[in-house]
Amino acid sequence: MSSKITLSVFKADVGGFVGHGSVHPDMLLKAQETLEEEGKDILIDFHVTHVGDDINLVLTHRQGVDSKDIHTLAWNTFQNCTEVAIELKMYGAGQDLLSDAFSGNIKGMGPGIAEMEFEERPSEPVVIFMADKTEPGAWNLPLYKIFADPFNTIGLVIDPKMHSGFSFEVLDLIEDKTVTFSCPEELYDMLVFLGAPNRFVVKNVFTKTGEITAASSTQKMNQLAGRYVGKDDPVLIVRCQNGLPAVGEVLEPFANPHLVTGWMRGSHFGPLIPVSQKDALPTRFDGPPRVIALGFQLANGRLIGPQDLFADMAFDRARHKALEIADYIRQLGPFEPHRLPLDEMEYTTMPKVMEKLKDRFK
Ligand code: F6R
Ligand code: MG
Ligand code: MG
Repeated sequence: MSSKITLSVFKADVGGFVGHGSVHPDMLLKAQETLEEEGKDILIDFHVTHVGDDINLVLTHRQGVDSKDIHTLAWNTFQNCTEVAIELKMYGAGQDLLSDAFSGNIKGMGPGIAEMEFEERPSEPVVIFMADKTEPGAWNLPLYKIFADPFNTIGLVIDPKMHSGFSFEVLDLIEDKTVTFSCPEELYDMLVFLGAPNRFVVKNVFTKTGEITAASSTQKMNQLAGRYVGKDDPVLIVRCQNGLPAVGEVLEPFANPHLVTGWMRGSHFGPLIPVSQKDALPTRFDGPPRVIALGFQLANGRLIGPQDLFADMAFDRARHKALEIADYIRQLGPFEPHRLPLDEMEYTTMPKVMEKLKDRFK
């Protein structure tokens, strides 16, 4: 067992209430009970929440990353929630638990996970972002701004502890290979990749001394029957302050909503709306995509919080802007660039329609 703290955030959609909009309170209660009972010997603390139809489990412990015990606990929790979902006939009950044969690590089994292990500092502020109706690439633009853009993060310019920059570990979702860029020196090389968030996603960010500061729930694409399924609805952990970006610098990119993929049928571009926990209920055209930010202070692994950081009225204008973008882009209906390009849609009728019409193409 390590003296370090591990912060693990798991997420899964194991049944929607109603449709794909939210999670039934009984399921959240079941998650709470399971973690209390089965986690009492291995967890330091936990927090259960949801954004849209995804249950999010925030766990602290000393078992390190990829711990079999912790992953099994998360898996069992989602399974117990699935049982409740089945009883209440929730929509898509158990949909993210892809296999019955759980092997001890949740990666590739359906649920998403972001985790990091570190020596807790004298004061350890963390922000946990959780999104619904979008994909892991949604974090590329904000992570670039937080850790590499001086127009967002003034600390890069005027804080001597941050002036040397950060390193970004980027995953190629197709090839399942990672590459690390040292910034600001390699910014322009890195942006060639980060600008294509459908394929290349930021997995981790490190200080120049190798300390982890951000981790996303980025995994290899779910290839099922040769086809990409699931938009993953990602989570992201960011450690803040005292040589790392300030909480306000970490939240600032979301003041100007960017377009992400997901939304209805995982097949559309839409604005990512920063919302408070109470507004994490995506219903319009099954969206638009949204993100919440919960802030915690760690105290020997205890999760002191959360603070609902996007409840700040200073994000109201971002919300209004996002709604205007949503009105505009919805007018395009089934046309790109609202609808995704053919090869990126989660749903498609194209092969069937093509087959039916094949003799009519001259
Ligand atoms: C998006 C999402 C929903 C569903 C849509 C159709 O990520 O989950 O938009 O894709 O409600 O769902 P089905 O095919 O289950 O009726
Ligand atoms: Mg769902
Ligand atoms: Mg979801």
